Amino acid sequence: MESVQAIKQRFGIIGNNIALNRSIEKSIQVAPTDISVLVSGESGVGKESLPKIIHSLSHRKHNKYIAVNCGAIPEGTIDSELFGHEKGAFTGASQARDGYFQVADGGTIFLDEVGELPLTTQVRLLRVLENGEFIRVGSSKVQKTNVRIVAATNVNMHEAIQKNKFREDLYYRLSTIEIHLPPLRDRKDDIHLLFRKFASDFATKYKMPTVRLTSSAQQMLENCHWPGNIRQLKNVAEQISVLEKERELDADRLREYIPKTSNLPSVIKAEKAKNDFSNEREILYKVLFDMKSDLNDLKKLTLELLSNGNTEKVKDEQENLIKKIYGKTKESQDTEDDFDERLEVLQIPEKSSIEEDEDEISIERASSYDFAEDVEEEETLSLQEKEVELIKKSLERYHGKRKPAAEELGISERTLYRKIKQYDL
Ligand SMILES: Nc1ncnc2c1ncn2[C@@H]1O[C@H](COP(=O)(O)OP(=O)(O)OP(=O)(O)O)[C@@H](O)[C@H]1O
Ligand SMILES: [Mg+2]
Repeated sequence: MESVQAIKQRFGIIGNNIALNRSIEKSIQVAPTDISVLVSGESGVGKESLPKIIHSLSHRKHNKYIAVNCGAIPEGTIDSELFGHEKGAFTGASQARDGYFQVADGGTIFLDEVGELPLTTQVRLLRVLENGEFIRVGSSKVQKTNVRIVAATNVNMHEAIQKNKFREDLYYRLSTIEIHLPPLRDRKDDIHLLFRKFASDFATKYKMPTVRLTSSAQQMLENCHWPGNIRQLKNVAEQISVLEKERELDADRLREYIPKTSNLPSVIKAEKAKNDFSNEREILYKVLFDMKSDLNDLKKLTLELLSNGNTEKVKDEQENLIKKIYGKTKESQDTEDDFDERLEVLQIPEKSSIEEDEDEISIERASSYDFAEDVEEEETLSLQEKEVELIKKSLERYHGKRKPAAEELGISERTLYRKIKQYDL
């Protein structure tokens, strides 16, 4: 049997933490069997290596290893991806297709983020686990497969079961053996070791001298909370490697790169963040909607002005608009000059000046239409930017945890997951 040390070397796993060693040892022990394994642990703790170790030390190693990210596949196609479909099973199914469970026959399937599986898919999965049977979408023929399943999750499965999001019977089937990877903050002894390895790798990659830490900086690194775990430490090492001119960092320099933790109790912090956030969001939306409604009024007025000869009516409209924008009417103005100045700000041509030059009308009209289209495009863009911004903020507040972030944003976790992928966040 290969030693833990040899496996770590083979899979590029750094660290000597006892719990880490224990989880690798467990993977080695369970590999030759066909037992289902559930790997659990926070995001970024290194869960992805363990299913690979298990597969490569099993009798299945010459057959396929397929990693499926259950959270990334849209709910509507996940059954077909996993179990295949018949020709004509749904609109667009012009060909029959083999699913992963058929392709990986004799091999291993890694179901990453298994907690994201829709309930209907969970039923199908349970059947595969119980007797190796599955049915393609749009078929009634039962097929057989021999697949070993390793699953991973960064969510609390007991909570998911309580909320009826995950079937309890499936959970017990999947987690015959559970291997837990501890968060980085519980592996303090490995933090500097990991940093040194990452710093040396990035130095090679970017052809720069390796960054080093003074002992105070090292201590700071070790006492950090690391909500994003090793992935986050790796990112920090990369940023420092690229950005720092001085290749030895003290605690003061390092502080700028590491995640900030405040002393507020976490419950209060979360509550405060939530309030700040919803206020901020409400204000943003309000500003956007107000802008849009002002813009529509402006468009209407411009059109009216250009096509309608009723100057009095247009004047009234102008006043209304100004009242809306500045919160004042002509009567309540401090001075008439002030009011006229504001009229100019709007730069709406008076009917008489339009009449003077017919050519100008068409130019004005054409450009006012273009303007409206531009603004609409910009609005869409800025809405998208705002969306990205809101998602980023929410993820930051919850240290990358999608579940509370999705709750706060009022969207499903699956939607949030896809938006993260879509915007490459
Ligand atoms: N012990 C380790 N030594 C070296 N690199 C590691 C170690 N653990 C994790 N990493 C690196 O950290 C990053 C995150 O690891 P991984 O993708 O396995 O996280 P994960 O637990 O699957 O997280 P998520 O739940 O977000 O998918 C990867 O780049 C991985 O190579
Ligand atoms: Mg992962």
